[in-house]
Amino acid sequence: MEAVGRKHASSTLLRVGLLLLVLSARTAGKPLDQCTANKPRDSSRPPVVLIPGDLGNQLEAKLNKPTVVHYVCYKKTDFFTLWLNLEQLVPVVIDCWIDNIRLIYNRTTHTSSSPPGVEIRVPGFGQTYSLEYLDPSKHSVGMYFFNIVQQLVDWGYTRNDDIRGAPYDWRKAPNENKDYFLQLQKMIEEMAEKACEPVVLIAHSMGNMYTLYFLNQQPQMWKDKYIKAFISLGAPWAGVAKTLRVVTSGDNNRIPVISPLKIRFQQRTAVSTSWLLPYARAWPKDKVLVQTPNFNYTVMDYERFYKDIGFEDGWLMRQDTESLVSDLTPPGVETHCLYGSGVPTPEAFQYSNKFPDVEPTVVTGDGDGTVNLVSALQCKTWVGKQKYNVTLKELPSNEHVAMLANITTVDYIKKVLFSP
Ligand SMILES: *[C@@H]1O[C@H](CO)[C@@H](O)[C@H](O)[C@H]1NC(C)=O
Ligand SMILES: *[C@@H]1O[C@H](CO)[C@@H](O)[C@H](O)[C@H]1NC(C)=O
Ligand SMILES: *[C@@H]1O[C@H](CO)[C@@H](O)[C@H](O)[C@H]1NC(C)=O
Ligand SMILES: *[C@@H]1O[C@H](CO)[C@@H](O)[C@H](O)[C@H]1NC(C)=O
Repeated sequence: MEAVGRKHASSTLLRVGLLLLVLSARTAGKPLDQCTANKPRDSSRPPVVLIPGDLGNQLEAKLNKPTVVHYVCYKKTDFFTLWLNLEQLVPVVIDCWIDNIRLIYNRTTHTSSSPPGVEIRVPGFGQTYSLEYLDPSKHSVGMYFFNIVQQLVDWGYTRNDDIRGAPYDWRKAPNENKDYFLQLQKMIEEMAEKACEPVVLIAHSMGNMYTLYFLNQQPQMWKDKYIKAFISLGAPWAGVAKTLRVVTSGDNNRIPVISPLKIRFQQRTAVSTSWLLPYARAWPKDKVLVQTPNFNYTVMDYERFYKDIGFEDGWLMRQDTESLVSDLTPPGVETHCLYGSGVPTPEAFQYSNKFPDVEPTVVTGDGDGTVNLVSALQCKTWVGKQKYNVTLKELPSNEHVAMLANITTVDYIKKVLFSP
C-alpha cells in the first residue's frame, strides 16, 4: 500500500516539477522564478536550516506514570526538559531519568515507543534555541550550535526567520521519524519562497545521515529548486566504531558520576545507536572491532555480537535501519564535507573475560575523536557522481563538537553562503 502511494505521489511531483521547469525556462533559469527578478544582488542571503546530531537538541517529557523506579522519581508532571538537564544526571535521580528517556522496542511492529505514561516531545521546531544550547539554562557545557547561529546573526541573519533549526527525536532512526521529514520539506519550501532564494542546509554528525536520507527521498527537481548547498560537518557516513562500545558496556563520556553499565541500559534502547554501528562498505571485513578472549568481532559478525552481549533486539534494530542510507546514494545537491582529523578516535575495543559488563581497553585511530576518518571520507565516493560539486575540506586537529566553533569552519560557511 505504502509503496503504491509513494509512487503515485512522486509521479505527481514529477509532473509538477516538469511544469515548473517549463515555466522557469523563460526566466533565465532562476530557481525560484516566481520571485521578483529585480531584487538587488547584494541583498542575496540564502536562508539556512540547521540539522543537529545525536543528542543534539532538547527533548521534553510529560509524565503520568503508573509506576516509578524509585520513590524520589516524579509520577505526574507537566512538560519539563528531559534533555539536557544536568540536575537529572546525578545519582539516584538518574534512575528516574533513564526510566523516562528509554524506548521500548516492539519486535512485532519493529517500532519503538516510550514507557507507559511518558510523553516525549521535541521543542522548538523551526526555531534555533533548542539546538543552540541543549540545556535551557544555557550552561556552557550544553553549548551546541550557538556560535554558528550568532555568527550568522552578525552577518545579517535573523533567528527563527531566515535561520531556523530542525530538531528531531534523535533516539530514533529516520524510519520512525516520517512526520519530521514532511515538516522539514514544508519549512524549506516556505523559507525559500519567502527569501526568493534556495536554502543552505547545515548538518552536524548524525544530522548528516538524516539530511542524506531526506535528500534521497526528494525528486531532483525539488532539490534543484529549493537547495543551494548542503554543508556537512563531522558526518559519520559509514557509522562510527564508538557505538560498539556504547552498546557493549555503555559510555558515560568520562562523566565519573554516571555508571557506564547503568547508562548502557538507556543507550541500548536508542535505535539510532544501532543504526550508527560501522558499515561494511567502509570497514575492512577482517578488521577486529571488538576483541574478547572467546571471539573477535568484525563488521560481519553483528548478529553474533548482539547475541553475545545479551541484546538481541539490537540486531533487529540494525536490520530495520541498515539500508536507510547504507548505499550512500549521492545527495544530488552542491555538497561540502568538512571533517576533523588528527584527534585520537576510538576504533577498536579489547575486553577481558568479564565481557560485556566491563570497561574495555580502547584502541584509537585517526578521526575527530568521535567519527573515524574512514567514515568521514566516504563523502569522496560522490565526487563526479552527481551534477553538482562535492568538496571535501579537512580540518586538522578539530574535535567533533569543537569544530562547530572553529573559525575555519565559520569562514567556510560564510564563503558558501555568500558565493553567487
Ligand atoms: C507489539 O505491537 C503489537 C501490535 O500493535 C501488539 O499487539 C503487542 O502487544 C505489542 N507488544 C508488546 C510487547 O507491547
Ligand atoms: C583475536 O585477535 C587477536 C589479535 O589479532 C589474536 O591474538 C587472538 O588470538 C584472536 N582471538 C580469537 C579468539 O580469535
Ligand atoms: C565546481 O568545482 C570546479 C572545480 O573546483 C569549479 O571550477 C566550479 O566553479 C565549481 N562549480 C560550482 C557550480 O561551484
Ligand atoms: C581550527 O581549525 C584549524 C584548521 O583545522 C586548526 O588548525 C586550528 O587549530 C583550530 N583552532 C582551534 C582553536 O581549535
